[in-house]
Amino acid sequence: MDVNPVETILKRYDYQDSWLVAMLQDLQTEMHYLPKEALEYMAEKLGISRTRIFRVATFYAAFSLTPKGKHRIHVCLGTACHVRGAGLIVNTLERQLKIKPGGTTSDLQFSLDTVNCLGACASGPIVVVDGEYSGEMSSLKMEKLLKPYRKGKKES
Ligand code: FES
Repeated sequence: MDVNPVETILKRYDYQDSWLVAMLQDLQTEMHYLPKEALEYMAEKLGISRTRIFRVATFYAAFSLTPKGKHRIHVCLGTACHVRGAGLIVNTLERQLKIKPGGTTSDLQFSLDTVNCLGACASGPIVVVDGEYSGEMSSLKMEKLLKPYRKGKKES
């Protein structure tokens, strides 16, 4: 494993374990997941137990111990979005990306997840791609929304 990105993050926070969550956020952003070896290296450099770092890494839903795609797609399946057809959007994405919710495409470009209510029910169905909310989504709009990501025109 290349430790340079991990070292850069550790230095950024002056090797202070009180910034552990922020460090893990940076690592997740940089590598799109938290590699086991990187967590073990971090624990050693911070002088904390592996148990502690893995407990934090598994506590927050934003962290993943398995590789995630460069682009993260979240489809809201809360009641308001569901009755407005969010399930059809999930079906469309499953077909297009050839993955199920919780999955990541083999080229590591996209990860698909479902969530329960994003607090914007009046504009449902809601889809969030790399943190950008899109409301009143449909299967057709979803295809258009993903196009720039597919062509690599949009970076996360
Ligand atoms: S149910 Fe989807 S935003 Fe609330």
